Amino acid sequence: KKILFVASECVPFIKTGGLADVVGSLPKCFDKEYFDVRVIVPKYMCMKEEFKNQMQYRAHFYMEMNWRSQYVGILEMQYDGITYYFIDNEYYFAGPKPYGNIYEDIEKFAFFSRAALSALPVLDFRPDIIHCHDWQTGLIPVYLKDTFQQGEFFRGIKTVMTIHNLKFQGVWDMKTVKDITGLPSYFFTPDKLEAYGDANYLKGGLVYADAITTVSNTYAEEIKTAFYGENLDGLLNARANSLRGILNGIDYDEYNPETDKYIAKNYNAKNFRKEKAKNKRALQEELGLEVNDKKFLIGIVSRLTDQKGFDLINYMMDEICQQDLQIAVLGTGEEKYENAFRYFAWKYPGKVSANIYYSEALSHKIYAGCDAFLMPSLFEPCGLSQLMSLRYGTVPIVRETGGLKDTVWPYNEFEGTGTGFSFANYNAHEMFNTIRYAHSVYIEKKREWNKIIDRAMAADFSWKASAMKYQELYDWLAGF
Ligand code: ADP
Ligand code: GLC
Repeated sequence: KKILFVASECVPFIKTGGLADVVGSLPKCFDKEYFDVRVIVPKYMCMKEEFKNQMQYRAHFYMEMNWRSQYVGILEMQYDGITYYFIDNEYYFAGPKPYGNIYEDIEKFAFFSRAALSALPVLDFRPDIIHCHDWQTGLIPVYLKDTFQQGEFFRGIKTVMTIHNLKFQGVWDMKTVKDITGLPSYFFTPDKLEAYGDANYLKGGLVYADAITTVSNTYAEEIKTAFYGENLDGLLNARANSLRGILNGIDYDEYNPETDKYIAKNYNAKNFRKEKAKNKRALQEELGLEVNDKKFLIGIVSRLTDQKGFDLINYMMDEICQQDLQIAVLGTGEEKYENAFRYFAWKYPGKVSANIYYSEALSHKIYAGCDAFLMPSLFEPCGLSQLMSLRYGTVPIVRETGGLKDTVWPYNEFEGTGTGFSFANYNAHEMFNTIRYAHSVYIEKKREWNKIIDRAMAADFSWKASAMKYQELYDWLAGF
């Protein structure tokens, strides 16, 4: 039983967000006797040399795409028990980052999707299921229905399309996309690739995939509504029978406070009361915050986009900073948010630390060293940062949307339950009140706070349960 993952990013090779975490950790979680899971990603020039050096050349060929003839190189690497293939083409994958302008990406990922399919007979690997992730691979189910289905090799291969973020769909004008993809005009109608006059890759994937999943139950419901549906709610309703939510997990070996090599002091669910504070002190020192155990330290690790609720945070930041607390931010993204945090760090020295870059190491130190983690997203398909926070006993403060709603249980002081704090409406004052409530529990009821941490660290968001659900889905699709 063979499964192929196709995606635009994958840990540890290349990462811009949670998609890479998922593609890098889920394949390892299946029983190897049962499933042979392999992964195809692009070979980006910006990947670390250490990885590029380990890739072995497997084959190359030229692929016809409309009037273009394109070089497709295939490299291979075994890593952590999984076989990875990398599609090589220096014209498409030479940029300083995996993604560039949308018009570049539109052509890049049409090429990648078709190349991934074309590579399979060359590799003599015929998957029973191709599992596609996000718009970058949306054309795979479409190509399969078109030319590829005509060949014996591809007949009967089933596809799963997973939506990690419905906001990004790969939309461009139809004339260009026809030219780039070489797909016949037949596909460019509103019941197929066309959406509102343009061509839409993700829509193609959602129309033609045998099954659709997204990364939490709540998001699976939300995207059938106009507010979250990003103009595809109609289609998602029409395909509701084929759509289900399967919650993401995180890699419990990679994110483990007991063995984490990045953090100042390892700890676990038993000794965090004594040991976690050492990480807080080290973090305060490193970031130039006032070193003080008693200050309520809130962490943020995030892409800086409106999706993550930064409009609420910006709006309330002065009020938040009037409180006796500290904020440590790590993130990159939209300039207006980057600059806002630089400004607040300047305005509140010792209280706000703005780290506008990408750092694996600092992210772990923040997950381990902070008291709380703030994630007031406008929408959140799943969210992994709050799962990492829970694992490290750093109490999440979130908005009740998507995966945040499914993974953070609001503290109930009467029942003594809950793993975090949450609010319902996308409203800056609601967020502020929730932060103040969390702060007051932290200051006034330290024992209660520590019990929240007990429950947070006991919650299990490893892949165990969710990998089983994917396994059931694959089995069902392939008729095993
Ligand atoms: P999304 O995929 O929408 O960005 P997730 O919560 O699913 O959100 O995943 C984000 C991932 O990216 C987490 O692993 C988080 O730690 C990581 N991350 C985000 N920004 C940074 C950064 N500046 N430095 C290091 N890691 C980051
Ligand atoms: C997307 C979503 C995030 C999710 C991740 C992995 O980037 O924004 O919520 O956790 O994909 O599925």
